[in-house]
Amino acid sequence: MSAPQAGPAHGDGDPVRTWRRLADTSVLLDGFHALKHALRFGAEIPVAVTVDREAALALADDLAQDVRESLTVLLAEVPEETYRTLVPRPHPTAVAALAVRPARATHLAALAHTPRTAPVVVLDNPRNLGNAGAVIRLAAGFGATGVVTTGTLDPWHPTVVRGGAGLHFATAVERLEVAGLPSGPLFALDPEGDDIRALKLPDDALLAFGSERSGLSAELRERADHLVSLPMRPQVSSYNLATSVAMTLYHWSMGAV
Ligand SMILES: C[S@@+](CC[C@H](N)C(=O)[O-])C[C@H]1O[C@@H](n2cnc3c(N)ncnc32)[C@H](O)[C@@H]1O
Repeated sequence: MSAPQAGPAHGDGDPVRTWRRLADTSVLLDGFHALKHALRFGAEIPVAVTVDREAALALADDLAQDVRESLTVLLAEVPEETYRTLVPRPHPTAVAALAVRPARATHLAALAHTPRTAPVVVLDNPRNLGNAGAVIRLAAGFGATGVVTTGTLDPWHPTVVRGGAGLHFATAVERLEVAGLPSGPLFALDPEGDDIRALKLPDDALLAFGSERSGLSAELRERADHLVSLPMRPQVSSYNLATSVAMTLYHWSMGAV
């Protein structure tokens, strides 16, 4: 990943004016940890605010010395009343920042690039914004190539970004049609599939998961090369979506059968 970019280039020196100008077209990073992760993974951050700069930099000393210098440049202290007007709801760390959303073309190129060294996670018409955020955090943690969603949910919705803890910048997150999915063998997770424990998931796999409400769509099933199940005792209907992604990525990371 590229080095963190702090961006006074975007502003005129007044962080509140810069914030108000960019807020509608930027990604809100809510809290210290989201800002820390976004910086680590090369996000472009035009503006960052806090109600207590000293406290925020002390947090950096404790938890994130690698981005302390960037934070020193970026963080502007604003009065608490002002901070409260900038964010939908105050965060316990009283830190917030705006990031530039990466270009879709860059992500599409990353998703299409071969040979692929880590799977792409596909969420087929997910409904729950928190689940999608948790999956993006998992994908970042396992170094997945990307997270693709089908359907209407916006994977860059502020609630998804909050659930992802700023880790959208560590992987390629995009919405696509099933017909436009990247190439590669598609393993679709379904309780009726073959036991995952007997399978090795290849690095170029697409790992697809169904909707919380109705499971895998007919279109996704049609495109699937393999149906795969996670071990589950009889009488349990299914696991939570993000939990299923966690188990599957862990299985991929273990390599051999
Ligand atoms: C909450 S479940 C969907 C439940 C839904 N009511 C259904 O009819 O399938 C969300 C997704 O997690 C994955 N999943 C959950 N439990 C699984 C299991 N035991 N084996 C494989 N995939 C599973 C599947 O991809 C499923 O579509």
